[in-house]
Amino acid sequence: MLAELEARSRKEQQELEVLRAAGGTALRERAGSFMLDVGPEVGLFLNTLVRVAGARTVVEIGGSVGYSTVWLAEAVRATGGRLHSIEVDRQKQEEQRAYLTAAGLDAYVELTSREAPELVPSLSAPVDLVLLDHWKELYVRDFDACWPALRPGGVIVADNVLMPRKNAEVIARYRHHLSGIPDAQSQMLALGDGLEVTTKRENVRMD
Ligand SMILES: C[S@@+](CC[C@H](N)C(=O)[O-])C[C@H]1O[C@@H](n2cnc3c(N)ncnc32)[C@H](O)[C@@H]1O
Repeated sequence: MLAELEARSRKEQQELEVLRAAGGTALRERAGSFMLDVGPEVGLFLNTLVRVAGARTVVEIGGSVGYSTVWLAEAVRATGGRLHSIEVDRQKQEEQRAYLTAAGLDAYVELTSREAPELVPSLSAPVDLVLLDHWKELYVRDFDACWPALRPGGVIVADNVLMPRKNAEVIARYRHHLSGIPDAQSQMLALGDGLEVTTKRENVRMD
């Protein structure tokens, strides 16, 4: 299933190049229909993180057609956990459902279009891990929706902090927001399009 999604992603990258070169509004009009996936390097990292942390309650914000969802779902199957994947585009969510079913992972995932500020406070267990990979202007809002529900030691991973460069200002605001949170420990990793990995510290500080 990952190979099929990766082949689709490569094809879409070529289409994106053509649209970018064409200029005008073509790219903006079609952008919403692309996978815009995290890619294999980040997919593997997320899968490893869930396993190493033993994460059982995992939230994905921006599931698209399911590439990162498959990586996360395979890991929560191993930890005995559950993935809550938010995707607001119903068409994409249907494709996501089909890919997960074909991969035999649908039993480990709740697909929802309830946005993070509504969904996360309703979860019955503390959250262990969150992936933010939706529209970048919503990162601060949805980080704040998740942070109170995150267990100490839990982690929020935000994608696209280095690329595409057009997001630089909004990402700078996100990172500035993190710097004002006393119990947040954050680090940028140059994996894929750049990840900001933010952990909620327990009471003890090292500095
Ligand atoms: C970059 S793509 C996600 C790619 C996906 N993580 C992957 O690796 O395949 C961003 C997605 O976020 C979705 N989105 C936009 N606003 C959202 C919101 N408020 N909550 C959840 N998803 C949202 C978009 O519809 C789009 O499919």
